[in-house]
Amino acid sequence: GKAQLKINGADYETNPEFTNVSGNILKLSDRSLHLKPSHPIGILRKQIEDKLNSTSNAYCLYNNFRPVVTVEENFDSLGFPPDHPGRSKSDTYYVNNKHLFRTHTSAHEMECFGNILGFSANSAPKDPTDKHGFLISADVYRRDEIDRTHYPVFHQMEGAHIWKRSQEPVAEGREPLHIQKLRADLLKLKNQLQDESNNLVVHDDTSLDGNPKQDFMSDIEVDLCSQHLKRSIELLVAQVFNKKLESMGTKQSENQLKVRWIKAYFPWTAPSWEIEVFWQGEWLELCGCGLVREQVLLNAGYEPNNTVGWAFGLGLDRIAMLLFEIPDIRLFWTLDERFHSQFSEGTISKFKPYSKYPGTVRDVAFWLPQKQDCAIIHENDLMEIVREMAGDLVESVKLIDNFVHPKTGKQSLCYRINYQSMDRNLTNEEINQIQESVRQELVHQYNVTLR
Ligand code: PHE
Repeated sequence: GKAQLKINGADYETNPEFTNVSGNILKLSDRSLHLKPSHPIGILRKQIEDKLNSTSNAYCLYNNFRPVVTVEENFDSLGFPPDHPGRSKSDTYYVNNKHLFRTHTSAHEMECFGNILGFSANSAPKDPTDKHGFLISADVYRRDEIDRTHYPVFHQMEGAHIWKRSQEPVAEGREPLHIQKLRADLLKLKNQLQDESNNLVVHDDTSLDGNPKQDFMSDIEVDLCSQHLKRSIELLVAQVFNKKLESMGTKQSENQLKVRWIKAYFPWTAPSWEIEVFWQGEWLELCGCGLVREQVLLNAGYEPNNTVGWAFGLGLDRIAMLLFEIPDIRLFWTLDERFHSQFSEGTISKFKPYSKYPGTVRDVAFWLPQKQDCAIIHENDLMEIVREMAGDLVESVKLIDNFVHPKTGKQSLCYRINYQSMDRNLTNEEINQIQESVRQELVHQYNVTLR
């Protein structure tokens, strides 16, 4: 029979053309850091959920979705074009041709939108919920470079809110019920924002030029929905960063918190934006968002023309690193009690490094094979080999030299690998062994000539 992979209790057939998920990733896939109440990621997740539900308890919480989803859920249902680079094997971990490790929490939008109204792709219809939105937190997976802020697994929170258009007739001169509801929801949010975070300074010069609205939505719906989306995200950003200012001993009233809105593009929202916060002298990108495309709602089983809403996706790791002052993203994954004992539920505390263990550097240089028909090495493939051989002992990998021999036309690359453990001292012997296995694997997989 064909090779099988067991992931979180389910069996998947592998497919030699697609399967590119490593043992390393499989091991990380049942850690569920976001569910640990006193892990920085778990603490931040809970804080945001509580804040967003404090206004009107509108959001249903989903924190237990398993990481393997279908290509349809992750890409097709959201309108990703067939040639979108996110689909490529160099960027995404595939289990087989139909299943992959979700690259974002948006993969669950279709299912969760369905759940609000009681539709479900996989089971009999349920009762519609009394919720108007959802928050999904989960681990997400991307093949990427290696450094202190990039790890192949990180965490996102997806949020969404909808308003069902009312069919009931309204009295002369009154607005439709869902518009009245949108106005009321927005007012509540604005008041809360004013009460809690009057140090927030918002810069927004975005317009609908080059970021058009969808035809099925009226101008007033677009205006109110966009405002509700932006004020909701501002509420959560202000809460998180003001709590940090407070824990640093800075008075909220004495410190402006600056955010700005910029236009963005996502295949499943229109119009779309991103929010950035000014923190320690830099503009930091926090979250993408927009008004949900009608096609996504149709895919979830909605009737045409009957619902409007918004969605956002927020990366948790970078924010947690900054709040808890964690210098290296690998620390989230350590099993060392000296890390975990420092944090407790509900509290933003500053991480105290227990020790900085010395690192050691090794270079790997090689000639690429010359034959035209030879597979070229995508940088993420090289990163993956190093991760597979070194696990969390690798801090960063950087290209330090790249040249083409003037006579032979052969290309040479040199990568510098920084080895360093978060928890202990390394021996030269073990690093030499790992380095040698990286070199051999490059020869084996890509037929390079080592220098
Ligand atoms: N999923 C997007 C990302 O990973 C973020 C997003 C979510 C954007 C929902 C719009 C709406 O970048």
